Amino acid sequence: MPVRIAPSILSADFSKLGDEVRAIDAAGADWIHVDVMDNHFVPNLTIGPMVVKALRPHSAKPFDVHLMVQPADALVEAFAEAGADILSVHPESGPHLHRTLMRIRALGKQAGVVLNPATPLAALDHVMDLIDLVLVMSVNPGFGGQSFIESALPKIEAIRKRIDLSGKAIELEVDGGVDAGNAGRLANAGATMLVAGTASFKGGPGHYAANIAALKAA
Ligand code: DX5
Ligand code: ZN
Repeated sequence: MPVRIAPSILSADFSKLGDEVRAIDAAGADWIHVDVMDNHFVPNLTIGPMVVKALRPHSAKPFDVHLMVQPADALVEAFAEAGADILSVHPESGPHLHRTLMRIRALGKQAGVVLNPATPLAALDHVMDLIDLVLVMSVNPGFGGQSFIESALPKIEAIRKRIDLSGKAIELEVDGGVDAGNAGRLANAGATMLVAGTASFKGGPGHYAANIAALKAA
């Protein structure tokens, strides 16, 4: 299956987010990636559940909500109610990853675990039964437009093996510094979903379809 693209609206024009979501959806986005930052777990402050709720009518595509908040548990329900389809959490963001993933699943949503560049694969050891997605960070979370960290590639390969061994339908998504220059290598390493902020939204709405097509073609 060809790799799919989840544009991060962190790189959209925040003064017209509804229009931006409609434009990126029409341009071929497979998922809409929403970066939630709290100025505590990461040094930036972005989008809350009210914004997700307001954006929900603008696209029927899955909302892929990446929680960079600490603690995450209290917000999981709010984002689920606001219209998130997939909720992903960092193991470092709370003391009870297993409980958090159970909570996401109990809300009827898909659950993901996010691995920072320095977070070992072992974080996945006892939660493979509870997840629908592994999100590999190829930058340190907090900002769009950072450079891709090459050590993500062998990590993706190792997680690909683990997922295949598990026999489960778990998506392998990569986030940070993704562009047409590395998308092919990421897909070959076993990624099924690529988050792209800068690379999707560069040039404005007239360029979105070509931007996404270039990522898929790579
Ligand atoms: C970083 C976010 C990413 C980021 C990606 O903390 O999780 O989703 O917006 O942006 P680019 O594609 O510009 O690196
Ligand atoms: Zn993200």
